[in-house]
Amino acid sequence: MSKEELSTPYYMCDESLLRANLEILDYVQKESGAKVILALKGFAMWSTFPLVKQYLKGCTSSGLHEALLAREEFAQNDKNLEVHTYSPAFKDEDIDEIAKISNHIVFNSPSQLFKYSKRVKKINQKISLSLRINPEQSSSPKDIYNPCGVYSRLGTTLANFDEKVLEHIDGLNFHALCEQDVDALEDVLKAFEEKFSKYFKNLKYINFGGGHHITKKGYDVERLIKIIKDFRAKYNVDVYLEPGEAVGWETGVLVSTVLDIVHNGMDIAILDTSAEAHMPDTLAMPYRAMVRGSGMVGEKKYTYRFGGNTCLAGDIMGDYSFDEPLKVGDKVIFEDQIHYTFVKNTTFNGIKLPSLVILREDKTLDVIKEFGYQDYRNRLS
Ligand SMILES: Cc1ncc(COP(=O)(O)O)c(C=O)c1O
Repeated sequence: MSKEELSTPYYMCDESLLRANLEILDYVQKESGAKVILALKGFAMWSTFPLVKQYLKGCTSSGLHEALLAREEFAQNDKNLEVHTYSPAFKDEDIDEIAKISNHIVFNSPSQLFKYSKRVKKINQKISLSLRINPEQSSSPKDIYNPCGVYSRLGTTLANFDEKVLEHIDGLNFHALCEQDVDALEDVLKAFEEKFSKYFKNLKYINFGGGHHITKKGYDVERLIKIIKDFRAKYNVDVYLEPGEAVGWETGVLVSTVLDIVHNGMDIAILDTSAEAHMPDTLAMPYRAMVRGSGMVGEKKYTYRFGGNTCLAGDIMGDYSFDEPLKVGDKVIFEDQIHYTFVKNTTFNGIKLPSLVILREDKTLDVIKEFGYQDYRNRLS
């Protein structure tokens, strides 16, 4: 099948770009001695896992369902691949199964740790437990993505740290970054060490979380490697990184079609996709996704606002300009739409979910999933 024959909307992940990211992450692992695991919340196109697991040591999951996916599709029978599970709070009905399929459980608070520690160790004697720390230091660019912001529920602050947790845990986790460079990590590490290094003595590992923009051009990979090596040598612990975005970063696109062009003070193109349903971070963060061949407003001769095919007035991707006028039927290609997109999609308005396509390394196209009415219907009753 050729790209022209694919019906829109669809996400297309390019495996050769994914491999290029994985090579960088693997270089970090090999040079620094850290273990890199995939944060499924950001990227969970499991048909690519045979490739991903050639490089990464396992997955980090946000609860039972992601842990099941990690065990089924990533770790399978490979006992060396690790499944880490963290939730802001675990539930009685999930915790036993989570204990069975996880190698590591990360608790958000001492109270959850004390509640479940004995129970999970009885189910899985080999399980490793950790507590998520809030280092109360973050330069995260957006409040919505700042786990160390005011009144954050994510992680345990020093004031709430109970030394009795040390009898139960092998590690500590923090996650404080969002699309950030290594200098932001240094600031977080400084605060984390100042507050918590007195507790590191008997620990086996520290997990530096995600948000490291390792695969973005210009990221200082060598400095990251040095920081990790120094940290490991100083405290004699293993270090984990658990990126999501850095795995899927710039590995593919969302392709849509212009359905209509209307005019109300400006030209507005209605697309067969949706910012609200298919590109939710463009509204939540918010940010302006890049569109192939476009410029900023007025930069090129013809400017359009792109709107989604739902009833939400604010279902707008942004304003873009082009050298040539757009026509109904034209394809519009949003860049870098593989992380935090299909993992968050909704069927709001009953809008069709975009198909999932993989461009294989031999340049063949695999339509791995198409969606229809049943997917909408089956989520409702
Ligand atoms: C605990 C934790 N680990 C890892 C990640 C992955 O972060 P990113 O995709 O920005 O690398 C997140 C994202 O929210 C997270 O909450």
